[in-house]
This record gives sequence, C-alpha cells and structure tokens, in this order.
Amino acid sequence: MPHTARSHHRRRRVPRPLPLVAAGALLAAAAVTLPQLTPEASAATTLRGYADARGVRIGAAVGDSPLTSDSAYTTVLDREFNSVTAENAMKWDALEPSRGGYNWAAADRLVAHAAAHNQGVRGHTLAWYSQLPSWLKNGNFSAAELNTILKKHIDTTLGRYKGKVYAWDVVNETFNEDGSMRSSLWQDKLGTGYIANALRWAHAADPAAKLYINDYNIEADNAKSDALYTLAKQLLAEGVPLNGIGFQSHFVVGQVPSTMKANLKRFSDLGLEVSVTELDIRIPLPASAAELAQQSADYKLASENCLGVARCAGVTVWGVTDKYSWIPGTFSGFGAALPYNESYAPKPSYTGLSNGLNPAA
Ligand SMILES: *[C@@H]1O[C@H](CO)[C@@H](O)[C@H](O)[C@H]1NC(C)=O
Ligand SMILES: *[C@@H]1O[C@H](CO)[C@@H](O)[C@H](O)[C@H]1NC(C)=O
Ligand SMILES: *[C@@H]1O[C@H](CO)[C@@H](O)[C@H](O)[C@H]1NC(C)=O
Repeated sequence: MPHTARSHHRRRRVPRPLPLVAAGALLAAAAVTLPQLTPEASAATTLRGYADARGVRIGAAVGDSPLTSDSAYTTVLDREFNSVTAENAMKWDALEPSRGGYNWAAADRLVAHAAAHNQGVRGHTLAWYSQLPSWLKNGNFSAAELNTILKKHIDTTLGRYKGKVYAWDVVNETFNEDGSMRSSLWQDKLGTGYIANALRWAHAADPAAKLYINDYNIEADNAKSDALYTLAKQLLAEGVPLNGIGFQSHFVVGQVPSTMKANLKRFSDLGLEVSVTELDIRIPLPASAAELAQQSADYKLASENCLGVARCAGVTVWGVTDKYSWIPGTFSGFGAALPYNESYAPKPSYTGLSNGLNPAA
C-alpha cells in the first residue's frame, strides 16, 4: 500500500466520515481523476480516518523489532494509526544506558517512521520508577546530583526531538493504590517536588509539547485518581506546566470502570487534556466468542469514555496485534488483548474501537 505524502494529505482533509454510499460514490468519482488512489482512498473508514475527521489521535505502542522486521505489522500500523508511542525505545534504560552515553537509534527510527507516515509521536517516558539503568539505580547519587541528572536527561531528550513529539509522558506512575506517593528513586531522594521540576524543565526544553502525568488504575474514581486530581489541581494553581493526564487503561475483559467517563471529565474540567495512553483489554485464554464480543463492547466504551469528554486528545492502544503484546508475559494465562490477532485479522475488538471513534456508528 503506497504511503505518499499526497494520499495522507488528502486523507486529513476529509471533513467527517461519510455515509458508506456517499463515500463509495465519491471514491468512484475520485478514481476517474486520480486513478493511482486505490486502496488508501478508502482511508476514511480506517481507525485513523475516523480519528482524523474528529481531530483526535488514535495511537499504538510500537516495538522496534516488528517495526524493523515485519512488513505486515507496519502495513497495519501505517494504515490504521495516526500516532505512535515507543513501547520501550524512549525509556531511560534504552536511551541513556550509561551516564551521558545515549543510544538514540531505535527512538530515531520510530520518529523518522512517524514523520514518513504522517503520524504524531507521543514521547514516553522521562521520570518513572522502573526500567532505570543500573548506573542510575545503583549510583547512590545525592539529591543535588540526581536533580542534575534528571534535568540533563530531560533537556537532552526533549531537545533532540523538539518539534517532533506532540506530547510527553513526563512522569509515570507516581502513586500507590491508596493514593500515597509511591516510593521511587525520585520520590525518595527528591520528594514530590521532582514532579513540578521535571514538568518545568520539559516545558523549557520543548515549549510546544503537551506534558502529561501518566498512571494506571486511575481510570475509575478511586483513592488513586483522587490523589492525582488533588496533585494536578495543586500543580496548576502553582503555574506548573502540566497539560494533560494519561490514563493507561490496561483493562480486563468486562471491567471497564463505570465511573471512567465522569472521572476523565473532572480532569478535563480542570482545563487539562485527557488521553487514554496504553489501552489493552486482556482475556483469560483461550478466549471464547462471548469474551471477544464483550471485549469489542469494552473497546467501544473505553474509547467513547475519553472521546465523549471535552478535552480528550485521543486514544493509544498498547500494541497493534496479539502477536507482540506484553500481556501473556506479564499476566500469566491472559492474552488476546489487542484489536488484531496474530495473523493480522481484525478481531471484533477492532470493530468496537472503530465504532467508538466513529460518531455515526
Ligand atoms: C509506565 O508504566 C507502565 C507499566 O505499567 C509501562 O508499561 C509504561 O511504559 C510506562 N509508561 C510510561 C509513560 O513510562
Ligand atoms: C551512599 O552515599 C551516602 C552519602 O554519601 C553514604 O553515606 C553511603 O554510605 C552510600 N551508600 C552506599 C551503599 O554506597
Ligand atoms: C486470525 O483470524 C482469522 C480470521 O478469523 C483466522 O482465519 C486466523 O486463523 C486467525 N489467526 C490466528 C493466529 O488465530
């Protein structure tokens, strides 16, 4: 399938999803004058076609290995998604494996791929308690040194990708389930103030990027999301450049929280963007037809819960295909969490997600 700048340009200008009959008529007419526009001309009915029409992002977490070795994967990625997140390539252990020694190769590949396919990039992630390189984890640095290290990492990374990343998950997973602050290298040595500092440094390094706090189990109205709400309000009151909240949304089939939309709305009402950043919906294996149907309804509901809120910027799925999902390796006995199966056939969940993006569905 060709990916010319021209076909993407045309796709972005489709004002809103057309009824199928009208779209068919339009394509038939277009084929007369633009005979080279064949399969991609139906792009209005892809996930990204619907998302483009609404001015929102539909993203996927992308692994470097399938990106560089699996053309079936990139075909689906580029046809269906207008945003990408590095599954691992922008985490600290991947980017700065030794102090001051950066490895940009995989992150650069993804950023270049996105530019070539008219996709936005969500940057991921700067200060997180996990996947830290051992020089950093075991360095026994003083608070002053840690501040220097964190600022340098943020300046260097955001500086490199300035203008190429539309949003950064600056801080990931800062809370425990009861709403207390999670122990981490940053929290323990620097205190909660590291969050405001990281956001300020990130804003100085790339003023146009939207800066997010990202977390899991904050989709429902609960102790953890209450604590984050309080923190977000406080940061905004202090003038800290926080632009959005990322709701990871790693769900179990049938368990999209009933309070999700109202919860996202309260953050949106603060003036913050909200995004679903890591959506997947796992099923105990083997998945039954009924579970796959439930999962489809869940994908629709989860995406509508965000897109139905004023400042929802988009939805990112944590992967493309069950072939490469992190789920089976992390949640033993679970899988089948994504919109495509191992051989790239769209599952019922694809239809659910598509209908969630398409207001006419
Ligand atoms: C945050 O943590 C999750 C683990 O739950 C991880 O999968 C994800 O990559 C991290 N996200 C960011 C923004 O660091
Ligand atoms: C860490 O640094 C402190 C302060 O310099 C020192 O007292 C302590 O012994 C160090 N710990 C380790 C494990 O090196
Ligand atoms: C994927 O789904 C298609 C269509 O239902 C099916 O033919 C194929 O066997 C499935 N592939 C796998 C690996 O399950």
